[in-house]
Amino acid sequence: MLRERLPGTKIPLPAPAPSAAALLLGWYDLHARVLPWRARPGEPSDPYAVWLSEIMLQQTTVAAVKAYYVRFLARWPTVQALADAPLEAVMQAWAGLGYYSRARNLHACATFVARQLGGQFPSTAAALQKLPGIGPYTAAAIAAIAFGEAASVVDANVERVITRLFAIETLLPAAKPTIQALAQTLTPQQRPGDFAQAMMDLGATLCTPRRPDCLLCPLGQACAARARGDASSFPRKLAKVPRPQRFGAAFFIRDGAAQVLVRTRAPRGLLGGMTELPGSDWGDTDSGLAALAAAPLPTQYHLAHTGVVHVFTHFALTLKVYTSRVAAGTAAPPGHRWVAEDRLDDEALPTLMRKAVAAAQGRKTQRRVA
Ligand code: ADE
Repeated sequence: MLRERLPGTKIPLPAPAPSAAALLLGWYDLHARVLPWRARPGEPSDPYAVWLSEIMLQQTTVAAVKAYYVRFLARWPTVQALADAPLEAVMQAWAGLGYYSRARNLHACATFVARQLGGQFPSTAAALQKLPGIGPYTAAAIAAIAFGEAASVVDANVERVITRLFAIETLLPAAKPTIQALAQTLTPQQRPGDFAQAMMDLGATLCTPRRPDCLLCPLGQACAARARGDASSFPRKLAKVPRPQRFGAAFFIRDGAAQVLVRTRAPRGLLGGMTELPGSDWGDTDSGLAALAAAPLPTQYHLAHTGVVHVFTHFALTLKVYTSRVAAGTAAPPGHRWVAEDRLDDEALPTLMRKAVAAAQGRKTQRRVA
């Protein structure tokens, strides 16, 4: 290739420095994490699979998502199959993954795409954002990964990478628009989906919160925070406010036919549409034995040895678990139903309730595996 020369000399001009995108993509080609939703090199992405994975990955770790993703895709391999599934089956399969409005929106979105769009997902971030459950971040991720749109995809990992690369002193969340604008300037026209995932991988594997591995970083030479020697101090953040505490009681009532009393939560709101043990409201103080007033059947209750502590995004909940036995044939109070104890796994029981059941049964909770 003919190289330009320095004017008036025979000295070739130095090759331009590779862009951050080129460096990062070169690194990604060698070190990309192998994840079940990623197309193999050279193969096209399936928009349905990309969408499914990105919905699951909202506020949820890669480790938690993997098994759910594989199970969902095996059970519902196409958007039509998912649209044809009953909502209850989708909620049940989602149980344990958290943020349950995602499962409801997932089903609504699949139904819309299958019935109104002929099974084809829209190919731009702007159009994707109009579908249920797809916000700006997820729209950008799907558009970039499945359709090659040069949309910038900024999650917490990417925020960390960018605030370090440019040593951004502005506190989060105020720095978000600047980070978004910088991410857009870095995003290449070629391979934007790989670039987005490379940024995520860099944040997850090398540019980690506490001990970033700057020596191995493909962007190390360009990184302003590394040059200052304080990469781990970024991003700058507003001081955290402590999480509020809430308290409540749950009742594990078994009848003489080995059935357990449950109910279904209201469709909207926290744990909307999921199955739960009957229980008290959750208050700001521990109301002690007064919580027993919320028991659905008038019988004797025993406090289980262990309670449950569960951390939601906006509060931490401490539940006392009470157990009791009633005779076979006891009528379920209005809004409640009996479920065979050995079929509880078929219910849409969120993790909080799995913990409560385990506490009542005197077991440790098991992680749900494939
Ligand atoms: N988090 C959100 N989307 C992701 C993806 N495609 N790969 C890895 N982590 C992610």
